[in-house]
Amino acid sequence: MDHFLYRDGALFAEDVPVAEIAAQVGTPFYCYSTATFERHFRLFDEALEGTDHLVCYAMKAASNQAILKTLAALGAGMDVVSGGEYARAKAAGVPGDRIVFSGVGKTREEIHTALTGGIRQFNVESEPEMEVINAVALELGVKAPITVRVNPDVDAKTHAKIATGKSENKFGIPISRAREVYAHAASLPGLEVIGIDVHIGSQLTQLEPFRLAYQKVAELTETLRADGHDIRRLDLGGGLGIPYERSNDAPPLPVEYGAMVKETLGHLNCEIEIEPGRLIAGNAGIMVSKVIYVKEGEDRQFMIIDGAMNDLIRPAMYEAHHDIIPVVEATPGEEPTTYDIVGPVCESGDTFAKGRTMAEVKPDDLVAFRSAGAYGAVMASEYNTRPLIPEVLVHGDQFAVIRRRPTFEEVINRDTIPEWL
Ligand code: LLP
Repeated sequence: MDHFLYRDGALFAEDVPVAEIAAQVGTPFYCYSTATFERHFRLFDEALEGTDHLVCYAMKAASNQAILKTLAALGAGMDVVSGGEYARAKAAGVPGDRIVFSGVGKTREEIHTALTGGIRQFNVESEPEMEVINAVALELGVKAPITVRVNPDVDAKTHAKIATGKSENKFGIPISRAREVYAHAASLPGLEVIGIDVHIGSQLTQLEPFRLAYQKVAELTETLRADGHDIRRLDLGGGLGIPYERSNDAPPLPVEYGAMVKETLGHLNCEIEIEPGRLIAGNAGIMVSKVIYVKEGEDRQFMIIDGAMNDLIRPAMYEAHHDIIPVVEATPGEEPTTYDIVGPVCESGDTFAKGRTMAEVKPDDLVAFRSAGAYGAVMASEYNTRPLIPEVLVHGDQFAVIRRRPTFEEVINRDTIPEWL
């Protein structure tokens, strides 16, 4: 169910015309659909029905407080990877026992904060980190619940920058060393070993890599249990991909993923945790931008828009495709045109699409980037002193600005002048 559809030729976000939001908040901006967030969370929750489970939203995908509150109200847990994300989850009212802490470089301070504020578990990524968690827990006189993230050496068949489950990646400990590392963990009195964690990458469009990894986790569960560890929770990470191009084959659905999880791991009677980010947030958001100029190049036309790589970096960083559609639907039968769609930032990499065929546009027309809800606003920067763009959340026929656009003055006033100047 798509909540960004045309009605009588005008693009709507749920029941709100996108052009109306643009008129009020200005462009560019991110616009999210509450109904889509809710639907996607429920798809995962229902896919694991019948097993003891918790869906921990990977909030790195989109972490605005309003989004977190929307999901937390449905019972979502959160997967956090920094002290900042932990603070965001707590600020949105998520209880500590629904927050899992992932990430390869958790600092002593972050560990301390999580142990005092409440944590479901740490997903430990290395032995040095395990030692630090142990030390902090002992100082505080508590036991830290942990899983160890194992690297199953599986090819996730995704973009190299977002694959994490091969031995050459920095993540987790090699699965071949797992017994040794678990024995080490069990010897540390500040730790309580409760399970196993795995995450092999993002934007996976096939089930097979997941299946291979989960089969290895199933075997490891039995081995570790035989070694005397009480393995009772399996954190399976995130990574299920979304269809970025509507013309392409759709990746597997959460229900198919859930069935595969039950098939590979169901017999172990473990509590299952998953950490989806992109599938929950990606198609819940669009980025809306305005055409500034159409410029004739020697052999191509450039559509220059007011959104840029600092607002949405995925095309520049991962050669990612985003469908770009006009906010006023093309008239049927109208001859399409081909554009290189670019932003105003002073880099050739500030290119969203090359040779994209779409309806003809003119200055001041609005365009929408589909599938921009995940890894969009959260990866934005203020490069070229372009203030972070606003985020808007739609709920039925209502909308609210959930992060406003800072003024130039606010941006500049974050700098301070040393006294010798
Ligand atoms: N759990 C862990 C430990 C992760 O590292 C990630 C993503 C997730 C869960 C969520 O994965 P998802 O369900 O969203 O695929 N910026 C990149 C994606 C980076 C993903 C990093 N880790 C992009 O824009 O494609």
